[in-house]
Amino acid sequence: MARHAEQVWITGGGSGIGLATAQLLAAQGSRVIISGRDAKKLQQACDESNRQLGSEALLALPCDLTDPGSRQQAFTQLLDQHGLPDLLILNAGNHIPVRPDTLKLDDFEQLMAINYLAVIACLEALLPAMLARGTGQIAVVASVAGYRGLPTGAAYGASKAALINTCEALYPELKAKGIDLKLINPGFVKTPLTDKNRFAMPFLIDSQQAARAIVRGLDRTGFEIAFPRVFVTLLKLLRILPYRLFFALSRKLIPKD
Ligand SMILES: NC(=O)c1ccc[n+]([C@@H]2O[C@H](COP(=O)([O-])OP(=O)(O)OC[C@H]3O[C@@H](n4cnc5c(N)ncnc54)[C@H](OP(=O)(O)O)[C@@H]3O)[C@@H](O)[C@H]2O)c1
Repeated sequence: MARHAEQVWITGGGSGIGLATAQLLAAQGSRVIISGRDAKKLQQACDESNRQLGSEALLALPCDLTDPGSRQQAFTQLLDQHGLPDLLILNAGNHIPVRPDTLKLDDFEQLMAINYLAVIACLEALLPAMLARGTGQIAVVASVAGYRGLPTGAAYGASKAALINTCEALYPELKAKGIDLKLINPGFVKTPLTDKNRFAMPFLIDSQQAARAIVRGLDRTGFEIAFPRVFVTLLKLLRILPYRLFFALSRKLIPKD
């Protein structure tokens, strides 16, 4: 589908994985609307990308997806000015590490609001029109961190596990109604989000590699787009380990401080 998607909306498209994917899709001929809270960053991303591509393919649609008023305005503007996209990439997200001694409800609420509930809000707003049209593709960016609970990931991993479960639940019915739902589970990707990490990230790739994996996956049949392959395979093996073995490995990931 991605090769033929004329109109794409990417949330969190002003940086990292979202921007690299927007640039790749635009280079392949799509018109890509990108969203994020920081209007200046978004416009700069559009201007620089369009200059490099020699086109006007990227367009900015600033909004805060955790703010009901802001996101409603964005849905209206998207549909009124650009029409219903062929492809939605619901990618906006954030990470806050959680340690037991400083655990805060607010961190969980913040991450669930952007990583999980904002995706559901986009589905609520755009699915009815997509279902009425009977075609379209929706890609939800979760994470391999949603496969199992890992140290420091109590809030982030939970929000991504919720996304994975919701997508698994919706996939068969959407498929039957002509909507292709893809679940994207990246491993570590070098972006502003992971630049904050103070540990060596295994199997780290850059955002262009992630974008290529995503766009390749969008063109294929199948539900999950997970990369890089070796890291994903290792984490999928973790999923089937009994708790005794799983915790023997996962406790090695507890930060040393
Ligand atoms: N990097 C990795 O290793 C990795 C691995 C697995 C999954 N992921 C997932 O990939 C997605 C993209 O992350 P990234 O690594 O590319 O990081 P990133 O560059 O920080 O991208 C996240 C984007 O989300 C936007 N965003 C955050 N809060 C928002 C809000 N309330 N409303 C609208 N937009 C919002 C940010 O823009 P503003 O700040 O301007 O709002 C930013 O452009 C996330 O869902 C992340 O969980 C990343």
